Amino acid sequence: MKALTVIPLKAGSAELSDVDDPPETDGPVLVETLAIGICGTDAEILSGAYGWPPPGRERLVLGHESIGRVLEAPDGAPVKKGDLVVGIVRRPDPVPCANCAVLEWDFCRNGQYTERGIKQHDGYLSERYRITPDFVVKVNPALGILGVLLEPTSVVAKAWEEVDHVGGRAHWDPKTVLVTGAGPIGLLAALIGVQRGLDVHVLDQMTTGVKPDLVRDLGATYHTGAVADAVPGPDVVIECTGVASLVLDAMTHVGIGGVVCLTGVSSGGHTLNLDEGALNRSMVLENVAVVGSVNANRRHYEAAAVALAAADPAWLARLVNRRVPLAQWQEAVQRGPDDVKVIITVNPE
Ligand code: BGC
Repeated sequence: MKALTVIPLKAGSAELSDVDDPPETDGPVLVETLAIGICGTDAEILSGAYGWPPPGRERLVLGHESIGRVLEAPDGAPVKKGDLVVGIVRRPDPVPCANCAVLEWDFCRNGQYTERGIKQHDGYLSERYRITPDFVVKVNPALGILGVLLEPTSVVAKAWEEVDHVGGRAHWDPKTVLVTGAGPIGLLAALIGVQRGLDVHVLDQMTTGVKPDLVRDLGATYHTGAVADAVPGPDVVIECTGVASLVLDAMTHVGIGGVVCLTGVSSGGHTLNLDEGALNRSMVLENVAVVGSVNANRRHYEAAAVALAAADPAWLARLVNRRVPLAQWQEAVQRGPDDVKVIITVNPE
């Protein structure tokens, strides 16, 4: 079968390869891939900056944002032939650490977790894949191919859960949230904020294109320019860019007792001229909390499924602004200024 493979840490190594059928060792559920979303992590892997091949192999099958249809499932499995499903990305470490042992693999403590399409385990960007029943999540059939948004939504569902936990350290009744970045993660974080009845503000640098309209149509407010000018003292900031200056601005301008949740991964190598003392002083005197958030466990996928089911399908459809057939995968990995979520279609229905 065909699969998009890459040699991790080698730029320009991606190719459409002929690979063996999915190994039985991956699990008894056989899934036909409908589409795969491409995100910043894939771009990093393709650029040679990130990723790990499976042990003893040179190439890794890419793809971790999936939507597929079950072809085979064992009797008694929670999914059956014909179900629309998404594969969970991370697998617990084999030790397992205390968190992986209780299925909180998104908080793996020893770094020995694996991630499909990212770290030491083939991804889902092949015509078919296999998986164990406990790592497959059923998607509302009404979502169709838009179920490809479940994985990125799971990442923000976890971020919101972290905000709740940290905010809940004291009386917590948040009213305003600032989301930095109007990419898919920022927009999906904003969606959940609106669903929670919050006053949502989204900051991005694009002044034209689809992003301002997507934010407004959600019932949120779109801003360009500086964090300080977007909204005064938000209770929550969800940082979705990884841009170091925005991270610091978020920490400086969040409201008293506020929570900053960092979801964007910075590239590093940038040194900022910073008054660390002033930042420390305001964080201490204002009880500011900054928390990082990565990945998602099964609970977050389930919360994401609820959020997507409650969203306007027409709005979700506008998020997926480009669909590229697998044979033309190169077009999918070249981002245009107006791209939000680009997906590669594998077995379109
Ligand atoms: C994925 C996460 C993963 C992270 C780091 C993200 O793009 O959505 O599941 O944990 O990359 O590898």
